[in-house]
Amino acid sequence: MKVDKRIEIGEYDDNIHAEVLEDLQAGDYGYKYRIVDGVVMPPYITPSRYELSRTIQTQIGDICYTSYPKSGSTWLAYILVLIVGNGEIPSDPTLRSGLHWVESSWTYPRCKTELDALPPPRIFKSHMPYRMALGGNPEQNPCKYIYIARNPKDVALSYYFFERGKSWAGHYSAPWEHWLKMFMEGTVQRGDWFEHVLSWWNHRNAKNILFLKYEDLRRNFGKELRRIALFLEYPLTDDVIDRIEEKTLFSNMKQDDFSNMHEIMEFHSFFRKGEIGSWKEEFTVAQSEHFDRLYDERMRGSGLSFEWE
Ligand code: A3P
Repeated sequence: MKVDKRIEIGEYDDNIHAEVLEDLQAGDYGYKYRIVDGVVMPPYITPSRYELSRTIQTQIGDICYTSYPKSGSTWLAYILVLIVGNGEIPSDPTLRSGLHWVESSWTYPRCKTELDALPPPRIFKSHMPYRMALGGNPEQNPCKYIYIARNPKDVALSYYFFERGKSWAGHYSAPWEHWLKMFMEGTVQRGDWFEHVLSWWNHRNAKNILFLKYEDLRRNFGKELRRIALFLEYPLTDDVIDRIEEKTLFSNMKQDDFSNMHEIMEFHSFFRKGEIGSWKEEFTVAQSEHFDRLYDERMRGSGLSFEWE
């Protein structure tokens, strides 16, 4: 399927997307952010978009997928779109154009009237921790929430490559060790990885919340896909499951015009590696050991563990 050439999403621009400029801040190497509800956020998370995302009325049948950035959420989005479409690509021009990222003023903002006019199943994208979730308190919401988490060393590395030089990050271009320090301190956009992941993990047993791991999807796609479909109450045949697996393979998503997101100018290298363990390319032994100590301290007693390679 070919991209509708009329769609082209230019760079994030403060003057068009930030809504208010006064609360934008810049850290070392020009790293741009704004604080929302005490958490470091990208500048396109504006006061009015955040307010809309908190107050939007969700409905039975709606689905919200959520994650810390770089945890496989786009992969999950495509899986969800295909589950809802029984294995078929919808008529939307591209994957991202059919999703609703309410908290963001960019890339495909829709106003409340447009969102309210859409029937469920609406698929919402979010990168918020639990207490800042779309629709207010998730456990009291008719919507179903799916959280995907990934081992934080791979997240940190993937996020570094994604964020470097980008307009929404103030064209930040620091060495890896600077980024890793910010990531470990919880001062990158979207805040502290540990808090984010544990905030959802602690609600994983709610009946409308499903907690997934990137590594499980990589290792055992069919089983995880069945779990998702069961949770969403979409019966899928084996044929459809095979089709979804084929379409959402990393190599296919990367070259398929529907999913590759080439219409978003700054996303050209979005599909980087798609592997478990690529953190080893940048972490030194000392950095890795330092990270492990922090991980043990912050995750001890949580019962949540990850595959690292
Ligand atoms: P890498 O940078 O390690 O390659 P998100 O969508 O939450 O921003 O996550 C992006 C990460 O998921 C990137 O990781 C990206 O390559 C990876 N990814 C995207 N599609 C994937 C797929 N179909 N299979 C495995 N990984 C995928």
